[in-house]
Amino acid sequence: MKTPVIPKKATLATTVGFASLVTLISCGEKESAATGDGGYGADQVAEAIYNVLASDRKVYAQKIVNRLAKDEKVIAAHEEWKENKALLLPAQMFREGAEEVDSIEDKEIDFTYSLQSTWPLNYENAKKKTPKVEEGLLAVSTKESEFYGKKWTGEETINGVDYFVGIYPDRAVAPACWTCHNEHENRKEDYPEFKKGDVMGGIVIRIPK
Ligand code: HEC
Repeated sequence: MKTPVIPKKATLATTVGFASLVTLISCGEKESAATGDGGYGADQVAEAIYNVLASDRKVYAQKIVNRLAKDEKVIAAHEEWKENKALLLPAQMFREGAEEVDSIEDKEIDFTYSLQSTWPLNYENAKKKTPKVEEGLLAVSTKESEFYGKKWTGEETINGVDYFVGIYPDRAVAPACWTCHNEHENRKEDYPEFKKGDVMGGIVIRIPK
């Protein structure tokens, strides 16, 4: 790229503006070098999706479920939320969102996401795990692993389609998270005793390559 020529009479504001534009352009070039088409790579897209999902999940758990069900005891959170006039569990809220995304046709980027763990309370969740996902979930949620609490990325092929798979930690961000899980009747014998900040599972994001 040519060195930009800044007009001598440019004001400070224009110079700063121009400098940021140059920075933007050069960043853009860096991204396009990675993907070859001027866009962001699957890794970056998945991380951006994760940041939004994890933030929304935290807000729902802390400001809706924990506040109303645990602190103020105004309404319960229950798996059979409709029958019990209760709040959706955070995992159900998350899945409803994922299903909405699935229902959007002709997406620019065709991604899917789900919430899973190596110790699922919902046995149906366990059936959906591929060996790659199991590997990634173990990596982000095993305390001795170098990926504990960090992202784990991999690739897998399902029905002939190659996917980027990003697995990101799902943490115990509100007391409602660990109290509900630690007391749940579906816990198996090896179920951990979760506490604040622990990784309880993973957010799995898949993007076709
Ligand atoms: C009121 C009870 C309750 C609360 C609060 C709750 N969970 Fe869950 N969680 C469940 C149940 C039950 C499931 C299985 C539900 C399903 O998949 O339909 C589940 C599912 C999950 C899963 C997917 C794997 C599995 O166990 O099936 C993860 C990971 C998880 N929860 C983590 C959390 C975190 C982190 C929080 C706090 C942000 C939280 N949960 C809050 C009860 C709860």
